[in-house]
Amino acid sequence: MSTPLRRPVVVLISGRGSNMRSLIDHGSDPHSPFTVTKVFTDKPDAAGLGLARSLRTATQALRPGDFEDRLLFDSALADAVERSEPALVVLAGFMRILSAPFLRRFEGRIMNIHPSLLPKFPGLNTHARALAAQEREHGATVHFVTEQLDGGPLIVQGRIPIETGDSESTLASRVLAVEHTIYPMAVGWFCEGRLQHRAGRAWLDGKALLEPVQLGSAPARSNHG
Ligand code: GRF
Repeated sequence: MSTPLRRPVVVLISGRGSNMRSLIDHGSDPHSPFTVTKVFTDKPDAAGLGLARSLRTATQALRPGDFEDRLLFDSALADAVERSEPALVVLAGFMRILSAPFLRRFEGRIMNIHPSLLPKFPGLNTHARALAAQEREHGATVHFVTEQLDGGPLIVQGRIPIETGDSESTLASRVLAVEHTIYPMAVGWFCEGRLQHRAGRAWLDGKALLEPVQLGSAPARSNHG
């Protein structure tokens, strides 16, 4: 039996790389619609870089300090990424805001994962903010990337209930487990040709997603109910 075509995906990281690992693992299944061909980082000492190498995945580090300004760094990064001819660029804990020229070069094929139920809690410290707001549920969101920080079209969300006694770290670890499920799923949909980013929306199986696909066990009740 022939092996289905696995489309090349590159992953951009700045840190420990657990989502990267989950994507590499999923992509190494011969039946996966994608394979991670290269990992890029802006932090040469990122723990995820060693992890990628140990998983026999090509890596490249570009140091922002080696470039005169942000636009030159982004342009060099875009050139390097483009040389890998990726079907999709996947941000996985990449801690830099990418400039408009970078995003234009990969328009329609760049995704991010964010540790909250967007549009709630864009930005940093999402777990602490969800606890402080006394949310009953929390989770993670995969979305297409646009110039609006954490504001691009939403694709899929995984939800978890917030339990009494949850701390920032217990929440973070349960949300991370959700991330490791929903990210390979969304990347897979894209690489199977089921998911697109066009006309300012995410489209799945030919239909515009008015809301992200929902996965998870949290009860569907409002914070005020
Ligand atoms: C994750 O929580 C992800 O949602 C956010 O950055 C974190 C990266 O973690 N964008 P890891 O490096 O994948 O472990």
